[in-house]
Order: sequence, then C-alpha cells, then structure tokens
Amino acid sequence: MAEFRLCIVGLGHRGRYMFREACQIPAFKGVAACDIQKELWFEETFHNGNKSPSLASQMPDVTFYEDYDEMLEKAKPDIVMVETPAHCHAAFCIKALEKGIHVYSDIPSVATLKEGKDLWEAFQASDAKLMTGATTMGWGFVHSLQDLHRQGLLGKPAILEAEYLHDCRYLWEETPWRKPTSQTHFPPCYYCTHSLGPLLSVLDEELSEVTCITSGSHHTPDLPYANDYTCALFRTPSGVLVRMTNSFINNWKGGLHSYRVFGTEGCFEHLSNRGEKQSERTTFSSNKLTGVEKITELPVGFSPFSEAVKKKFKTIGGGGHGGADPYLMLRFAEALINKDKEMPVSLRQGLAMTLPGLYASESVFRNGEKLPIHYPWEKELFQKDIDNRSAPVSGVEK
Ligand SMILES: NC(=O)c1ccc[n+]([C@@H]2O[C@H](COP(=O)([O-])OP(=O)(O)OC[C@H]3O[C@@H](n4cnc5c(N)ncnc54)[C@H](O)[C@@H]3O)[C@@H](O)[C@H]2O)c1
Repeated sequence: MAEFRLCIVGLGHRGRYMFREACQIPAFKGVAACDIQKELWFEETFHNGNKSPSLASQMPDVTFYEDYDEMLEKAKPDIVMVETPAHCHAAFCIKALEKGIHVYSDIPSVATLKEGKDLWEAFQASDAKLMTGATTMGWGFVHSLQDLHRQGLLGKPAILEAEYLHDCRYLWEETPWRKPTSQTHFPPCYYCTHSLGPLLSVLDEELSEVTCITSGSHHTPDLPYANDYTCALFRTPSGVLVRMTNSFINNWKGGLHSYRVFGTEGCFEHLSNRGEKQSERTTFSSNKLTGVEKITELPVGFSPFSEAVKKKFKTIGGGGHGGADPYLMLRFAEALINKDKEMPVSLRQGLAMTLPGLYASESVFRNGEKLPIHYPWEKELFQKDIDNRSAPVSGVEK
C-alpha cells in the first residue's frame, strides 16, 4: 500500500485529535508536527477539563517544529494537515501547494476574498491535491439526503434551510480567536461551511446573491460589538432560496445542527436533539415512493459507517463528530492512492461553501444590503469584489 509522509500545522484540541486519528490510517505515516506553542507537543494537554499525556510521549517517531517553513523544508512531507485557527488557513495551504505537497485543510477554506483568489490560483498552478475537511459532509444523514436526491425522491430542491446554534463561550479561554474583540468581531455567518456544505451538495448551482442581518449583542453587555446571531438569505441563479441561521453566543441547550430541504416531490428534515429526552431525528416524505407520502423516519444518525462503508474501508467506525472525521480522512487517503483527479470534497466545493459567508458578513456590515456573490473562477467580477469590500471580517486583513 502507498505510504504518504504526513505532517500537521496547528496542535490545538482539534489538530491534536486529527493528527492522532490520521496516523491510524495505514496509508499515512506521521513524520512531523508544528505549532508556535511548543508546550502543546512536549507537555500534558487539557481540553474541557480532560488531561492527555504529551504527544511527544505518544509519538516518539514524529519530529516537532516551531517553524512551518522549516518543517516543510526538512520533513519532506507528502501531505500537510492545516489545523490553525479559523482565520488563518490559506497561507499555510498555499505554501504547501507551491511545494507540490498535498493538503487536508480544515474549514473555512479562506478568511478573505483575496485569500480565495490566491488559494485558487496556487491550486491551479500546482500538481498537488487539496481536500476540504468539511466535517458535516461526512455525516450519515447527509449521505441519506444525497441518496434521496440522487434517486429523484425529493424532486428539485427549491427551498433549503440550515441552523447552526452553538454557544461557544466555553471555548473563549482556550481558543481566544473565537472571542469577539473590538478588532475581530466577525459575525457568525462567516463560519458557514457546516451549514452550506450539505445543502450545496444537493444543488447543481452555486449561491449567487445574499442579504444578511445581525441581532447585534444581547447576551454579553461587556462586548457591545459582538454579533450573537445572524440570519442570511441566499439565492441561486434559478431562484432556489437558502436560509441560514448561525449563533455562537446564546443559551441554547439542544443539538447544534438542523437542516431542511423542501423539494418539488418531497421534503427532508434533520432536526437536532432537544435535550436528552428528545434525540435528533431524520425524516423525509416523497410523492414518488408508495408508502412514504407521509413523514417517515430514517434510521440514520451522524455515523457515516453504514454496513456498505464498513465493508469498503474495513473499519468498525467511531471517531470524532460521529465518525465523520475519520471517514473523510479515509476517503482522502483512498483518493490519493487512486490518484483521483478531484478530492471527495474539492477546493472548489470548499470555496463554494465558504465564500458566501464572507459576502454575508459584508452584507451585515452594510446593514443587510443585498449583494451579488462571485467566485475566483469568475475572475474579473471576483477581482472587482475584492477591490470593493469593506467589512472587517477578521483580524488578519491583508
Ligand atoms: N471541522 C470541525 O468540525 C471543526 C471543529 C472544531 C474546530 N475546527 C477548526 O479547527 C481549527 C483549529 O481549531 P482549534 O479549536 O483546535 O483551535 P486552537 O486555537 O486550539 O488551535 C490552533 C493552533 O494553531 C496554532 N498556530 C497558530 N498560528 C500558527 C503558526 N503560525 N504556526 C504554527 N502553529 C500555529 C496555535 O498555537 C494553536 O495551537 C480551526 O480552523 C477551527 O475552525 C473545525
């Protein structure tokens, strides 16, 4: 079996977990890891009150670097996993692609439109592949939605909805980049890939317009610039509507993600749990299949490890986000081994589920103004948008 030399940049909670998990894949051999905080490699770590032994003690064959460029130069990796904070992925991806190194990048793909252009161009110029690590694309119920759509049981998706409600305040101390400051008060619509990825996977066009408004700050009087909640309304060229609500400051105690698809022949809904007594549910109805004209429950949850998938990957399942993380890494490994032209979640898909959130943030900044959305593959229109944008989306404006 092919063996790819794997390295990682960013050893926060997510990076530490993702690297350990990826090193279990037979095709990957962990060779190097990088973070500007060397204690995350050499010392015990803590997350949510749980203690883990140092990675150095668990992975004695892996070399640690404090400098990313030095790691790329000396470790000679075939693959880099990018697990740095949400607003700084693109620069790491670009450097790897320029050296012909494959990339597995966490989401969102980019933090600014200019990064979108630079990353797309670097990708076009490279022989290396880029996989977008869009977790929600690995969920079992999302695969059910895709199957229902492929088989025509929903007809044409016409109106789609996604909610991502996650009170992230408990993470502010450990990951300060999540806390809004007067300089970095990006609205929650910016973190949109979890919501848009599954919905876009059943559309055959990209989002082309958006209007988005914010609630402003209600829950944290000491952070008057915070945006508790945003509601974005997107439209495609054929008039399909997508409503996306996001909130990272709230007192919601239920599950995080809900999705709804109204098609011309049926409906699909995944409703997150409402506390311990009401678990998450996935239902659908279809005019195209006798017996399911009424709302019908699907026996599917987060795990992508259906019997067919288990057989294919010879794995028993489990792992982060209901198994979605290891599943997507396995798909990535398989695509590299097979030398597939496109990765299971491509950069183009990553940008198509990331950039609408940046335009939505711009709309928030312009008090709900309706804006056209463009992509780097629409070169001139996209460049115009880069020149005209004004929203201070994150602290890493270039
Ligand atoms: N897909 C998902 O479901 C999911 C879930 C959680 C987090 N994430 C993403 O994972 C990423 C990491 O999140 P986290 O919670 O672990 O954050 P974190 O802040 O704990 O980790 C980021 C790490 O990157 C390091 N870093 C920053 N700049 C660096 C540089 N120049 N060189 C080397 N290391 C550098 C930091 O020191 C830190 O340890 C984010 O992009 C986040 O959006 C995705």
